[in-house]
This record gives sequence, C-alpha cells and structure tokens, in this order.
Amino acid sequence: MMPPAARGSDHWPVAMTYLLIKTLHLLFVIAWMATVFYLPRILVNLAESAGEPAVQARLQLMGRRLYMFGHNMFGLAFIFGVLLWQGWRVFPQALPNVVGSLHWIDAKLTLVAVLLAYFTVCGRLLKRAAAGGALPSSRALRWFNELPVLLLLGVIFLVLAKPF
Ligand code: HEM
Repeated sequence: MMPPAARGSDHWPVAMTYLLIKTLHLLFVIAWMATVFYLPRILVNLAESAGEPAVQARLQLMGRRLYMFGHNMFGLAFIFGVLLWQGWRVFPQALPNVVGSLHWIDAKLTLVAVLLAYFTVCGRLLKRAAAGGALPSSRALRWFNELPVLLLLGVIFLVLAKPF
C-alpha cells in the first residue's frame, strides 16, 4: 500500500485516487452481491407460488428487473476492479501495483467467475420459469441459495489476506 505521505498535489494525495476507485469498486460489488443473494429467493418464491398467476407475474417482473440491474452493477464493479488491478500500467504516477507477483488475484477471479456463472444460472432458471418450464424444488433452491455465501467468504479472505 502506498505511503500516506505520497502527495500528488497540495489538494489531492496520490493514495486518495486509489482509495476512491476502491470505494467505487466496493460500492458496485456490494450492489451486485445484493442481487446475487436476492435472485434465488425470488426463484424459491416462484417455486412455492405455482397456481397463483398474479403472484408469479409480480415475481417475474421483479426478477427480470433485478437481473438487469445486477448485470449493470457487475459491469461497473469489473471496470473499477480492473482499474485497481492493472491501472498502474496506464497511470503509473497515480495508481500502485497492488498485486505485483502474487497470485491471490487469480484465485479471487476464479471465485468471481463462479459467482458470475451462478448469477447467470439464476437468470436462466428465471427465463425457464417465464416460459412455463419447471423449476427445481424450493428445498433444492434454498440450498442453492447458500453457495454465494461460501464463495464471497473466499473472495473477501483472498483480497484482504493476499495469502499467496
Ligand atoms: C470482476 C473483477 C474484479 C477484479 C479485477 C478485482 C480486483 C480487485 C483489486 C485489484 C482490489 C484491490 C486490492 C487491494 O487494494 O489490496 C480489489 C479490492 C476488493 N475487491 Fe475486487 N475485483 C473484482 C471483483 C470483485 C468481486 C466480484 C468482489 C466480491 C464479490 C470483490 C471484492 C473486493 C473487496 C472486498 C476488495 C477490498 C479489499 C480491501 O479493502 O483491501 N472484487 N479488487
């Protein structure tokens, strides 16, 4: 991490640029993770409200909007994440090389890819339900809903501890 004394100008210390980008990264990560946690809950409610068309229509609308919002938030989290990771190549004066020769980022991005695949599967299940296709049981969906918690635990540990 850059020494806090490093000053870019009298009004905007260099480290502040990095911290502002990390703040935006975390904002969009949190917004995306909210949709990753909530979309499977909508699937559970869809599975448990078969035969209630008004409820199903409301849940479908909520699910579609949440899925679209989630994609936008991931896109922004990705842009600021790549800036944190590789920005030093373009702005060497303003951004530090936080990863260097370490490999925690490889493991982190693998878990992020699994989280993104999970989110996409939820979107596919939502579309299948809208087309009248069968959903897994609500019990199976509740277990499925726990997976992102474990993945997020791994991502946060890797980015804070940087163990390798
Ligand atoms: C999509 C591609 C992503 C890239 C390239 C990326 C890259 C990075 C980098 C380089 C940092 C700065 C590490 C540091 O300053 O020590 C960071 C911070 C962080 N990232 Fe990501 N990230 C991505 C997505 C995510 C996702 C999806 C999550 C959570 C699910 C996440 C959670 C975090 C957290 C919690 C931090 C803050 C760590 C700290 O405070 O030091 N990132 N990310």
